[in-house]
Amino acid sequence: MPNHPTRDDIDFLDGYWYQHEPHDTWKWMRENAPVYYDADSDVWGITRYHDILEVEKDPSTFSSWRSPRPHGDPLPMMISMDDPLHKQRRKLVNRGFTPKRVRDRTAEVAAICDEILDKVCERGECDFVWDIAAPLPLMLIGDMLGFPRESYDDLLEWSDDMIRATTKTDPAAAEKGMLAGIAFREFQLEVIADRRSRPPQSDLVSVLCHAEVDGEKLDDESLVQETLLILIGGDETTRHVISGGMLALMEHPDQKALFNQQAADDAWMERAVEEMLRWVTPIKNMSRSATRDVEMHGETIGEGDQVILLYPSANRDETVFDDPYKFDLERDPNHHLAFGWGTHFCLGSSLARLELKIMFQRLAERMPDLQLANEEPLPWRASNFIVGPEGMPVTFTPSAPMGG
Ligand code: HEM
Repeated sequence: MPNHPTRDDIDFLDGYWYQHEPHDTWKWMRENAPVYYDADSDVWGITRYHDILEVEKDPSTFSSWRSPRPHGDPLPMMISMDDPLHKQRRKLVNRGFTPKRVRDRTAEVAAICDEILDKVCERGECDFVWDIAAPLPLMLIGDMLGFPRESYDDLLEWSDDMIRATTKTDPAAAEKGMLAGIAFREFQLEVIADRRSRPPQSDLVSVLCHAEVDGEKLDDESLVQETLLILIGGDETTRHVISGGMLALMEHPDQKALFNQQAADDAWMERAVEEMLRWVTPIKNMSRSATRDVEMHGETIGEGDQVILLYPSANRDETVFDDPYKFDLERDPNHHLAFGWGTHFCLGSSLARLELKIMFQRLAERMPDLQLANEEPLPWRASNFIVGPEGMPVTFTPSAPMGG
């Protein structure tokens, strides 16, 4: 039995609980029950910034073997492994994601941003989520993985359906997510067979197919899971910061005016992107499994218990951030935990930061008066994992495509 007060409205695995960002509840937890046991889900939730860091810094006590979801089956991918195995896996693809390698892709990212904006700029209206925010990360990660462009619509639908399935109260979504997983697997097995039959190439699927760990090549299941992790890490996260960041700008006209004025300044925009990451924090939690009984704030987390790290709560922790509920593009310092921390720190953080910086610079330049098309509430994804708008109709002054 937990020693803390409990509340009926807390349900760590219900995707609908996260749908509207329960910041008041997270604040209450930080103040009254920072290590909260949700009996219904059989999961502990950690809400304070420094406690989350403590867990991230101690992987021998808080293992990733069932990550990223609580009660998950162990999967053959880096995020579900502990070191040294985790590091071996991560090393296979790490080279493609270093800050230097990512910087070298600046022109390519800018060209893709313009290609995306060119498709809608003459119309003066679009759905910001589906026409602008979702395509950029999908195209970049799809290209890196070496998937054919004709597969991108399917890839987006499958990965969306898999994330929409992460809510325990929606059997139809669970069913769709399962079918999406099967479809991705079939598709990916064909890609794997193709890459194995050819000499090594530079795309990530080929790199993984030809890589060796301790003299052994990765098996099919590892290849499917590792590429799925990279696909979902790539296409299901950054887009919510593009849409959520833009929404925050529209909701804070003073910040939008500042943004339009300063956007061309690289250093300014890099700082602004950090605030958008803190503000949106699209990954709502990652899970760990306790490897022994451990005491935290008077609670005993038992060996084998499931723990989630609630990053959006950490990113509003008033002991770390001044005025944490203020959206402040010039916030400094801003050591948010949107990318996690420690050995599993987001592999794609440099890529995400570059995408965000360039897309927001392009938006400031090409659609400075972008605004919501109406006052209808936005449809919002229900998920206990990665959350954001499912649509965002906007209008802007039409302009000519840039071409190229
Ligand atoms: C705004 C965008 C993104 C956010 C907020 C985000 C967030 C995160 C978080 C919170 C973690 C877990 C860290 C931890 O457990 O401490 C993570 C891990 C990971 N992310 Fe991202 N991510 C983003 C973009 C990307 C992109 C573009 C990729 C593309 C490859 C990616 C790939 C991964 C992978 C492979 C892992 C597992 C790393 C490991 O286990 O060592 N992410 N990310």
